[in-house]
Amino acid sequence: MSKIVGMNRRTFIRNAGVTALAGAAGTVATVSSTASAQSSSSIPKLAGGRYDFDTPYNRVGTNCSRWDSPALKYGDGVFKYGMGVASIDFECAPCITEALAERVAHHNWGYLSTTEPLRDGIVKWNGERHGVDLDPASITLSDGVYPGIIAALRSFVPIGNKVLMNSPVYSGFYSMARAARVEAVDSQLRYVNGRYEIDWDDLESKMTADVRAMLVCNPQNPTGNVWTKDELLRIGRLCLEHNIVVLADEIHSDVIRAGHKYVPFGSLPDAAVVNNSVSFNAISKTFNLAGMKNAYYYSKNPRLLAQVNQFHRAELSTLGVVANEAAYHHGGEWFDQANAYMDDNHTFVENYIKEHMPNVGYTRNEGTFMTFLNFSKVLDAIGAEEMAKAHGKDTAEAYFQDWLTEKSGVYLNPGTIYGAGGEGHMRMNIASSRRVLQEVLDAMAAAVRNV
Ligand SMILES: Cc1ncc(COP(=O)(O)O)c(C=O)c1O
Repeated sequence: MSKIVGMNRRTFIRNAGVTALAGAAGTVATVSSTASAQSSSSIPKLAGGRYDFDTPYNRVGTNCSRWDSPALKYGDGVFKYGMGVASIDFECAPCITEALAERVAHHNWGYLSTTEPLRDGIVKWNGERHGVDLDPASITLSDGVYPGIIAALRSFVPIGNKVLMNSPVYSGFYSMARAARVEAVDSQLRYVNGRYEIDWDDLESKMTADVRAMLVCNPQNPTGNVWTKDELLRIGRLCLEHNIVVLADEIHSDVIRAGHKYVPFGSLPDAAVVNNSVSFNAISKTFNLAGMKNAYYYSKNPRLLAQVNQFHRAELSTLGVVANEAAYHHGGEWFDQANAYMDDNHTFVENYIKEHMPNVGYTRNEGTFMTFLNFSKVLDAIGAEEMAKAHGKDTAEAYFQDWLTEKSGVYLNPGTIYGAGGEGHMRMNIASSRRVLQEVLDAMAAAVRNV
């Protein structure tokens, strides 16, 4: 039983009145004792105006991909901790729940009239926080970063041509390339003195005539790089030289650790570089609004923007607009506190792993709420390569995902889904209550310590 006020998965689901997932049982870290706790409109604030991120917020039984999907894959009670999917566990900013409650009180759901306040929020957020000056007319709203990037790939990369990316990188980039019927080319990052670095020679050697776009992930999921102005400028100039359009995915741009600075591609001090780019963003990571389907892209170059727009069609939902507007206009203070808490979580995980898991490699993140752990020694020790073949698994890392879940209840994402360089690694989400992290780390350490 969990050290945190534990609750049987089945009991929680019964309390919540959700029966569809009742077959999946397991113990999860939680202090929410009733379903009504899930619908509170304000997250508790502590003395000094601090939001309480320490009290775990139970998401089990809410049709939540992070906590409910893995349970469907394993037997009763095997899966306990969803640490794979990139979604934050905290109860959302109160301003979001309040705005949604107010809108839900009116019972009509026809087409929306205007998205102007949403656009204003995007402009204000980017200007005030990131120093990028956006013209509302240069912004196209979308229902996700995915559809925008797919439209851009369709418009810039002829079918069968290539899109370049530094890997390990967000697994979705490969499915975006497939959807656009273009080939993904990895330029693997080099691991130098504890940081992932761009291999400039390799990158340039891959800029062949059939490469027509480069996806830049800033901050980089899963390696945690926050690329510097100089690195971005160098990428941008190389792409210009080789006639490659830059597609900058900046969805993790708000989650930046102290001491690092996110530089929007669209704010670089080289007009030619900026005019050769399209940027994609959302606050769906910032405020955990992924289910609200809201994102946007922009370009300072009207020609590029028009080209992408030709291939793009999206409609936003009323509730998505309401939630995002509220977050942009009123969520800043909540997010700043959440970001500081996640920064401390990174330090907590780093210290724990260095002290208690000597056979696991740790890389210090600069941004994102992911951490990319090197389990190569553990994989070798358990013969994951051979076991994967024996169990019909595609990769040793996929086998290890099951192994770790079965031994510890902790579910991580296999590094190989992030392209070349992901071998031996697993991605872990650290955006949870620190009490949950403590349980997760204790369970993982017990599983891998004596292999
Ligand atoms: C780098 C990156 N881009 C895009 C996405 C998905 O964006 P969306 O849900 O808006 O399509 C993710 C989700 O994890 C991501 O990490």
